[in-house]
Amino acid sequence: MLVFNIATVIFWLLPVDAKSYDSSNSHYDFVIVGGGTSGLVVANRLSEMRDFTVAVIEAGDSVLNNYNVSTTTGYGLSFGTAIDWKYQTEDQIYAGGSKQIMRAGKAIGGTSTINGMAYTRAQKAQIDSWEKVGNKGWNWNNLFPYYLKSEQFQVPTPDQFARGADYYPSYHGEHGPLKVGWSKAMTNSSVLPVLDETFQQLGVSYNRDINGGSMIGLTVHPDTIDREENVRHDAARAYYWPYENRSNLKIISNTYANKIIWDESSDSEAVAVGVEVTGVDGIETIYATKEVILSAGSLKSPVILELSGIGNPDILKKHEIPLKVNLSSVGENLQDQTNNGISYEGNEFWLGLPTFSVLPSVEQIYGDDFSAVSSAVNSSLADYAKNVSFSSNGAVLEANILAALQLQHDLVFKSHVPFAEIVLLPIGHTFSSEYWPLLPFSRGSIHINSADATQTPDINPNYFMFEQDLKSQVDVARYIRKAFVTPPLSDLVGEELAPGFEHVPGDASKSTWENWVKSNYRSNFHPVGTASMLPREKGGVVGPDLKVYGTKNVRVIDASVVPFQICGHLTSTLYAMADRASDVIKKRYIF
Ligand SMILES: Cc1cc2nc3c(=O)[nH]c(=O)nc-3n(C[C@H](O)[C@H](O)[C@H](O)COP(=O)(O)OP(=O)(O)OC[C@H]3O[C@@H](n4cnc5c(N)ncnc54)[C@H](O)[C@@H]3O)c2cc1C
Ligand SMILES: *[C@@H]1O[C@H](CO)[C@@H](O)[C@H](O)[C@H]1NC(C)=O
Ligand SMILES: *[C@@H]1O[C@H](CO)[C@@H](O)[C@H](O)[C@H]1NC(C)=O
Ligand SMILES: *[C@@H]1O[C@H](CO)[C@@H](O)[C@H](O)[C@H]1NC(C)=O
Ligand SMILES: *[C@@H]1O[C@H](CO)[C@@H](O)[C@H](O)[C@H]1NC(C)=O
Ligand SMILES: *[C@@H]1O[C@H](CO)[C@@H](O)[C@H](O)[C@H]1NC(C)=O
Ligand SMILES: *[C@@H]1O[C@H](CO)[C@@H](O)[C@H](O)[C@H]1NC(C)=O
Repeated sequence: MLVFNIATVIFWLLPVDAKSYDSSNSHYDFVIVGGGTSGLVVANRLSEMRDFTVAVIEAGDSVLNNYNVSTTTGYGLSFGTAIDWKYQTEDQIYAGGSKQIMRAGKAIGGTSTINGMAYTRAQKAQIDSWEKVGNKGWNWNNLFPYYLKSEQFQVPTPDQFARGADYYPSYHGEHGPLKVGWSKAMTNSSVLPVLDETFQQLGVSYNRDINGGSMIGLTVHPDTIDREENVRHDAARAYYWPYENRSNLKIISNTYANKIIWDESSDSEAVAVGVEVTGVDGIETIYATKEVILSAGSLKSPVILELSGIGNPDILKKHEIPLKVNLSSVGENLQDQTNNGISYEGNEFWLGLPTFSVLPSVEQIYGDDFSAVSSAVNSSLADYAKNVSFSSNGAVLEANILAALQLQHDLVFKSHVPFAEIVLLPIGHTFSSEYWPLLPFSRGSIHINSADATQTPDINPNYFMFEQDLKSQVDVARYIRKAFVTPPLSDLVGEELAPGFEHVPGDASKSTWENWVKSNYRSNFHPVGTASMLPREKGGVVGPDLKVYGTKNVRVIDASVVPFQICGHLTSTLYAMADRASDVIKKRYIF
């Protein structure tokens, strides 16, 4: 196991006159592109080593004093403001035709500054599947200590216990930078017993702590929150601001990374010497003497690779970008989820921040139909694979995607990872819910459509590309409706506000439901996989050391490398992954 508290100790024992950057000089050992969720973890851990100098290039600015970020009850306030990239997709042809907005944070702290703060990890079997497909060392048991290393768990107060907060101590870390816990203003104690009794009748049990690798059940999950200060604990508050004065760490904000600059004399592996940026003083190069690390997020890191000449030769040729590494899988394997909302009038007025989620298994959703659904999906996989390969113009090999889809089928139908997440939100006079099936089969892509880094790329998640994904979206909606007419939950609510029985009657047909889904869904904002960690011959972009194939010193460390969608919200796993990746890097240079 690679947990390097020793390195941290060594750092603090070193004399204070350690190496620091010279502000007249733009040379650093490590240049990290993107000061977001993952990038700030890597910046923090590498700068623990006083002999390393680290620069972080970040397009956004500080949001430390931005109320839209710090408030714990203002989810959505920052949407559409200057700190939201609000990426736009291509027309979603399988989903009614319209474009979608994919939100992402543009700030020191990245998307963790605008997200929903939910802290839920993953199902053990799905992290183990990373190793099964060839990523040596990436399994649950190895990642688990890093979930703990990153975490500073805030033990619930008696009042919070009474309102439903609960945990197993062995699942949590106490000494990490990231504060995890519940708000002082949790929704009152009358709601959880009602949900518990209701979902018991639908076969779903209470899960005391979702963060130990078994996620099925009804849970009251913690958030990334600083309870005492009552502020969001984002990546910047956790991993950067307390360390802002380290002399070997510099954030270069309001600065856009355009592309990697290469050592042109190298003719075998590509060697990065720095990053071309556009900052407040125009275009310049920030030099990296050791490595360039891309942490710009799953909708930007693959774009920077393509702009730098790493990708599909056909795409690069079209934009006259010289080919550096022939790696057609860059930008493929885009996997996101789709979110719909169902809401009711409330019979009471609820104050506080609810964190109730239900994660049912496929059997709990489908009951006796479970094995029929399993075989129907299984027998469609070969067609899915053919169509994914076709829609990627052959960049994704049919055999590779088929293997990935089979693995996914088995996770859902044999290992019983959660099938959907249903978030239950009693707030004010409404009791609403949002839901998303967790593992859609559709696969999309993101690619440049210009050699100009300021132009927006083509983002196509291919939402509802396959019948089963649309079916899941409808079937989970029907299941939620069933829950809301089951007592005692039914006693807490009045009229259904959305979809509303006038739009989707009780006996609505499949197509009525499908139309409602397509006209009302949104991205669930969990895009992963666009620079997948997989063996190169299986369509990978990076290996288990997160180094880009064909390069000597370029890594990707962010949601892009997550090879298969996970059932948790992403940040907890990204923090852990980035912490573990930092140890991989330290090990490369120190021992
Ligand atoms: C609205 C919303 C709600 C969510 N809710 C939750 C939730 O409740 N819980 C959860 O765990 N996850 C949630 N997620 C998902 C999660 O927040 C993200 O998956 C995660 O933060 C992504 O981390 P990252 O390191 O991959 O990228 P990011 O955190 O997005 O970091 C990328 C950074 O790179 C910067 N950057 C991009 N391009 C450039 C460039 N060219 N030059 C310089 N800098 C650049 C960006 O500004 C950003 O700071 C949510 C996401 C959204 C959008
Ligand atoms: C906060 O959000 C509101 C609306 O959502 C917006 O009008 C305001 O400008 C934002 N504040 C900052 C500092 O961006
Ligand atoms: C960093 O230094 C500045 C200037 O001396 C100071 O105001 C700030 O509090 C310091 N930050 C931390 C986290 O110590
Ligand atoms: C890129 O690699 C593929 C697969 O290995 C190969 O078929 C193709 O000819 C290569 N293209 C270039 C331009 O090198
Ligand atoms: C919780 O809030 C509801 C709605 O305001 C109220 O009816 C109920 O009495 C409260 N329960 C407790 C235990 O405070
Ligand atoms: C799925 O289908 C494949 C062939 O298409 C078959 O080999 C496999 O046994 C099936 N698996 C299940 C669980 O039905
Ligand atoms: C695959 O694509 C073809 C051609 O567009 C289409 O007719 C077929 O229904 C698709 N198959 C699946 C499983 O989506």
